[in-house]
Amino acid sequence: MKLEIAGKLDLSVRQDALLVPVIQDCVSEDPLVAGLDGRLDGALGKLILQEEFKGKPGQVLSFNTLGRIGVETVCLMGLGPEQKLSAEAYRRAAGRAADCLRRMRAKKAVIACQVPAGKMVSAEDIAGGLVQGVWLGLYRFDKYKSRNDNGGEKYAGPDKAALFFCDSKGRPAKLSHPGLKEAAARELTIAEGVAGARDLVNEIPEELFPASLAKKAGELTGGIKGLTCRVLDEKQMKKEKMEAALAVGRGSGHGPRFIEIVYKPVGRVRRDELLVLVGKGVTFDSGGLNIKPGEHMVTMKMDMSGAAVVINAIALIARLRLPVRCAAVVAAVENMPSGRSYKPDDVVRSMNGMTIEVGNTDAEGRVTLADSLSWAVQKLGATRIVDLATLTGACVVGLGPTTAGVFGNDGTWTEAVVEAAGRAGEKVCRLPLDEDMADDIKSEVADVKNVGATRFGGAIAGALFLQKFVGEVPWVHLDIAGPSWADKKRHYEPVGGTGFGVRTLVRLAEKLAAEGRKKK
Ligand code: BES
Ligand code: MN
Ligand code: ZN
Repeated sequence: MKLEIAGKLDLSVRQDALLVPVIQDCVSEDPLVAGLDGRLDGALGKLILQEEFKGKPGQVLSFNTLGRIGVETVCLMGLGPEQKLSAEAYRRAAGRAADCLRRMRAKKAVIACQVPAGKMVSAEDIAGGLVQGVWLGLYRFDKYKSRNDNGGEKYAGPDKAALFFCDSKGRPAKLSHPGLKEAAARELTIAEGVAGARDLVNEIPEELFPASLAKKAGELTGGIKGLTCRVLDEKQMKKEKMEAALAVGRGSGHGPRFIEIVYKPVGRVRRDELLVLVGKGVTFDSGGLNIKPGEHMVTMKMDMSGAAVVINAIALIARLRLPVRCAAVVAAVENMPSGRSYKPDDVVRSMNGMTIEVGNTDAEGRVTLADSLSWAVQKLGATRIVDLATLTGACVVGLGPTTAGVFGNDGTWTEAVVEAAGRAGEKVCRLPLDEDMADDIKSEVADVKNVGATRFGGAIAGALFLQKFVGEVPWVHLDIAGPSWADKKRHYEPVGGTGFGVRTLVRLAEKLAAEGRKKK
């Protein structure tokens, strides 16, 4: 999609679609709506009344102009109330715009928008939100579909999209175009990274297993300046004493792999920090010998969402040339039942020497993460860690399907992640690392047990287990079991993998880089 910032808006010029985000209860005052209404002899005003279009969040009004103007289809999208405007409001409205573009199969589109006088959102936020919402909303995983849902040709989005901004009088807004264009291009790049993560999550388990995930990681990061990707096979993992991750993967015909991606920024960077992103990479979670019932096993190809996210996030951090040292690690395994599977009652030794009693083979994520977290601490010398894992169903029960749970052993670092998520428009909620539950994961035979003693607080038990492997390093654990997968279409997310976390991690790296600059 070619993106440009337009200096003027000419309604006579031929366009497939004109998309106009409108603030709630300000529809008649919107200069673009007024301009359109004038050109359409008052028909738009009537339509707005008839359809009770108020600009509420999610509300859309689209119509064909029957050749009265150059634009074929006009689509108004509600932004919600002015006091609640944010980049996310624009992202969501743009998601509706994407639906409209798809219906129209538009090839050429303009998004026109007034920059509100208030200081709620900047023009950069608006441009970024709109571009990202359109791109993410257009995303489909349709490589296995011969035709679209109506039996027609598949649609890949517009070739050309222009953004036009005006002031409250409809005059072209006085804005710094290079800055705006840069913001829009940047958010588009990030959206591409999110789409990259979605592609990995959505890929079928027959195609995506540890070795193929490792290969894809190499391809995704290859050719980006400053990035190196290293893959350990089963033998090398054994040499590194990753017995925990190996045990989880042992029941599968697809052998485990360990993926390490390192980003060394060029030029002046802060040397005092190494941010390590750890992703859970269970390419399919059948539960193992504690096999999942059928209705819980479907969608478990998504159990490598954390891996998909950290791989794409570090690629973005490098593509955007953020001046911060960073690495991503994934222990990729497939959790399957077989004669070679690890068993309940087994004890496995993790890379850092700690022994783990296996209470349930379906609590496999934390067992693999034991080794990747140890690697981050011992081999890489992480100064900050963020792990992303589709770790527990309990987290989805507690927070619902669209919010991630956040745990951390360091208040400042945890707040930094929460703030980055807020700015990125990804919903997270802090949960406690409750010390009083420490006994829950005590084992009679080993140093720690991979399941809690009760069914209460499952997400917390999982986090407490992970904490054993990070030592004193500031660490944040994001339980993304809910938001990684959309069971129904929402805003700019179609059904399937969402790429949740990519945007947060990029914001976080930006923040760390900016703090470094301040310190110098
Ligand atoms: N991958 C699952 C968690 C999950 C559940 C992710 C639903 C996404 C949606 C994880 O490996 C798992 O099976 N967890 C168990 C832990 C239990 C055995 C302690 C769970 O949540 O039931
Ligand atoms: Mn499991
Ligand atoms: Zn799992």
